[in-house]
Amino acid sequence: MTSLEESVVSALDGYNQTELFPFLPYILQDFWEIGADPVEIIKMIQKHAKKPAHELRVLDLGCGKGAVSIQLASAIGCSCLGIDAVKEFIAFANKKAVERKVSHLCTFEVGDIRLRVNTLHKFDIIILGAIGSVLGNTFDTISAIKRCLKHKGFILIDDGYIPENSNLSHPNASKKSEILAHMEKAGMQLKEEAICQNDDEAAAMHSKEFSHIENRCKELIEEYPDKRSIFENYVSNQKKEYEAIENDFINSLMVIA
Ligand SMILES: C[S@@+](CC[C@H](N)C(=O)[O-])C[C@H]1O[C@@H](n2cnc3c(N)ncnc32)[C@H](O)[C@@H]1O
Repeated sequence: MTSLEESVVSALDGYNQTELFPFLPYILQDFWEIGADPVEIIKMIQKHAKKPAHELRVLDLGCGKGAVSIQLASAIGCSCLGIDAVKEFIAFANKKAVERKVSHLCTFEVGDIRLRVNTLHKFDIIILGAIGSVLGNTFDTISAIKRCLKHKGFILIDDGYIPENSNLSHPNASKKSEILAHMEKAGMQLKEEAICQNDDEAAAMHSKEFSHIENRCKELIEEYPDKRSIFENYVSNQKKEYEAIENDFINSLMVIA
């Protein structure tokens, strides 16, 4: 198993630059949502949940700053457990849950989800919001988290995949045919998929997000000139990542049961 720092940095597109780990809370300070789309996730849960919302137990793996769990709990009143490896993200999530008056519904903890999934049980819904391949490929991921689900529970995966006719290869993404084959091998199926449109609004948001990252990295370069190359590499990786999101990937939300 790779180190926790490597897992986090890779999931945030820093790949093997583990020196970035302590700087990620600073670089991402302007973000609450760090990838997944809470609005689409709430809609899908409202559509697919088979019991009253206040009885639902939701597990949000790699929850970041809790943007999905907090907005979900606030919208429907379910209970959520969010786990993330970055302690500053969890501190932010706890503060935000109080601010949004859902701290009685949301629990956030610092942990390594690759280990925590072995000890968690009886969740109705598991959310994997833009965590890439933290838990391995789709087969490894579903096999690892299936045991955390209740009978008739379902999984939501919010992530990008590579179109069938593309030659692109990416460390955090596969083609849909491969994802579906892995799902089936792990004993689950795709029940519904929502594709996120790359419209002008999304492009404007990506451009704003990229500027935040670029500006925070510039500030860090001034403060730590000896680490210039790691921050410059991060900005350049992020630029490629946003270009891939807009031009290469299909960004989707999958419901798997
Ligand atoms: C792209 S962010 C998505 C955050 C959140 N789901 C959202 O959409 O706002 C990926 C998250 O996975 C977390 N992560 C990566 N590896 C992890 C691990 N092994 N255990 C716990 N969290 C991890 C990172 O710290 C980061 O917050």
